[in-house]
Amino acid sequence: MATYKILITDNIAPQGIELLEKVPQFDVEVAVSLSPEELKKKVKDAHALIIRSATKVTSDVIEGAKKLKVIGRAGIGLDNVDVRAATKKGIVVMNAPEGNMVTTAEHTIAMLMALARNIPQATASLKSKKWEKKKFQGRELYRKILGIIGLGRIGSIVADRANGLKMKVIAYDPFVRPEMAEKIGVELVSLEELYQRADFITIHTPLTPETKYLINKKAFAQMKDGVMIVNCARGGIVKEKDLYEAIQKGKVAGAALDVFEKEPPQDNPLLDLDRVICTPHLGASTQEAQTNVAVAIAEQVTDYLINGVVRNA
Ligand code: NAD
Ligand code: MLT
Repeated sequence: MATYKILITDNIAPQGIELLEKVPQFDVEVAVSLSPEELKKKVKDAHALIIRSATKVTSDVIEGAKKLKVIGRAGIGLDNVDVRAATKKGIVVMNAPEGNMVTTAEHTIAMLMALARNIPQATASLKSKKWEKKKFQGRELYRKILGIIGLGRIGSIVADRANGLKMKVIAYDPFVRPEMAEKIGVELVSLEELYQRADFITIHTPLTPETKYLINKKAFAQMKDGVMIVNCARGGIVKEKDLYEAIQKGKVAGAALDVFEKEPPQDNPLLDLDRVICTPHLGASTQEAQTNVAVAIAEQVTDYLINGVVRNA
């Protein structure tokens, strides 16, 4: 009987690990927080590598992974994997694109509401024994325009929830047809029009060479004065230096950030601004979503190694 070494290098839910351990042909090892050198050593004899966002699967790591057949991402973003290098070596790269989409959309709505109503700042103030009612007056979302950049799985769910809040939802996505957007109650517009009309802007694209620093100085200049920005997609889509300046100048009234150019952020001046609220990449962090993605990736990797079936590659 062929045996396969399954290496898991980020924290995934136990339900996924248990499924893999039940497969007689699998020898499962969990080793998290590895240095790049340790990762290279461990992956040498692995047939499958299972990760979340912390493990960086560079071309260097892939080069030394002589037996690797599959990389499984328990989640959506593949920006931490050199997919091109893997594909060149015949390694299948798969993700679990559906298990955390509702959870991430819910986090986006939570961030939007917390931003509009100053909830983190007001909590900190009250806990320091102050009673600052006037300082924390917020904004209503009702009838405000939400601009969604990237109307894919998560963007569409955010649109649905925002429609429920009676916001007017507009979106920019060059790969979506207007009829499809219309069906879910969204008006598809150009990026320029979105910048001009939106009171709140939320980003839901992947990080690609095209979207890197998409939201920059030039983009902020086209936006409404006092716009609010939410980023629960990927650090690096918003240029942090330009966002800092736009907030300092009062052009942007506030930002809610779940993701950062460098994670964890180190000496990031955005974190010193009162107008910035933030979470440590918690978009997908619910028990439900983590179980979903761990089980999905365990099943997909098993299906590939045992039955040769490829899903979500
Ligand atoms: P998706 O592929 O379903 O949707 C992405 C959409 O972006 C697509 O419709 C695509 O057409 C669009 N798009 C691509 N390039 C674009 C561009 N230049 N301008 C406008 N639109 C563009 O992906 P998804 O599942 O909705 O995930 C979206 C993002 O959220 C990804 O970056 C993912 O990694 C991130 N994410 C973050 C968390 C978190 O924990 N914060 C959790 C899950 C996903
Ligand atoms: C994802 O792309 O799925 C997210 O980054 C969620 C995560 O794995 O934390």
